[in-house]
Amino acid sequence: MSIVVTGATGQLGRHVVEQLLEKIPAEQITAVVRDEAKAADFAARGVKLAIADYNAPETFDGLFAAGDKVLLISGNEFDKGRPQQHQVVIDAAKAAGVALLAYTSAPGSLTAALADDHRATEEAVRASGLPYTLLRNGWYHENYTENLAPVLEHNAVVGAAGEGRVSSASRADYAAAAVAVLTGEGHENKTYELGGDEAWSFAEYAAELSRQTGKEIAYNAVSVEAFTGILTGAGLPGPLAAILAGVDASIEKGELVVSTGDLSRLAGRPTTPLSEAITAALKG
Ligand SMILES: NC(=O)c1ccc[n+]([C@@H]2O[C@H](COP(=O)([O-])OP(=O)(O)OC[C@H]3O[C@@H](n4cnc5c(N)ncnc54)[C@H](OP(=O)(O)O)[C@@H]3O)[C@@H](O)[C@H]2O)c1
Repeated sequence: MSIVVTGATGQLGRHVVEQLLEKIPAEQITAVVRDEAKAADFAARGVKLAIADYNAPETFDGLFAAGDKVLLISGNEFDKGRPQQHQVVIDAAKAAGVALLAYTSAPGSLTAALADDHRATEEAVRASGLPYTLLRNGWYHENYTENLAPVLEHNAVVGAAGEGRVSSASRADYAAAAVAVLTGEGHENKTYELGGDEAWSFAEYAAELSRQTGKEIAYNAVSVEAFTGILTGAGLPGPLAAILAGVDASIEKGELVVSTGDLSRLAGRPTTPLSEAITAALKG
């Protein structure tokens, strides 16, 4: 019996494995990874590794065991059919009869195209008949704070979110919620709407950046079309730029404000303030 984490060498997955290591013995953790070399540090600390790829169903044959608790971290290959990729993991979990299948999804309020893969996967998770937990993760602080270079270069936060607000939280916060579900009891067939304790607007984000950098950083609100053009101009493929600009349209409509309190409740502490994530990014 193991706690099994897919996408374990990804940014969220690494936080999950690190936080699991603080709670349970390493030999009770299995990290599912594509590239063994990327997980050498986990192996050195006694975490079990399983090598598998969502694109190769046979690599998941026999990977799970009855009684395992599995965290399926959604993939990032938008062009490869993520619902089909996730189905591979769900089928293998079903064949093994795992005790819990948790999935990192998106807020139920999100209507942007980005959510389509998540809604399809949620349906497949429920259809599996397995005990499940849906971790509907809101937006990460890091979506913004890890992309500060152009903001600092132009002294402008550019977005198409109007005056909309986002209740983002750090990846470490979402990982804490996942770890609480994987190591705790009573989370079967629950859907958690996860978001940060405080929602902020892009103008407030720009103001906080100004405060911390001592520069005059403005929020430049543009249309969804203009923002798509800016993103493609910066080198993003057209379809991905459209998806990201679509998220801003959702933010303007308030779809990325999650006010359930589920995240801080599961984590057992307040979520990380955006200002802290900015400070960390500016130091880094
Ligand atoms: N809530 C948000 O704001 C937000 C933002 C961005 C993304 N997301 C979603 O949340 C997920 C986790 O976030 P993150 O920051 O950890 O993303 P990330 O760093 O891009 O990690 C994605 C993980 O998925 C794994 N993966 C991708 N394709 C795979 C395949 N074919 N087979 C096996 N593993 C595969 C990657 O493996 P490798 O380590 O081998 O590359 C990586 O571990 C993302 O994949 C995405 O679905 C959410």
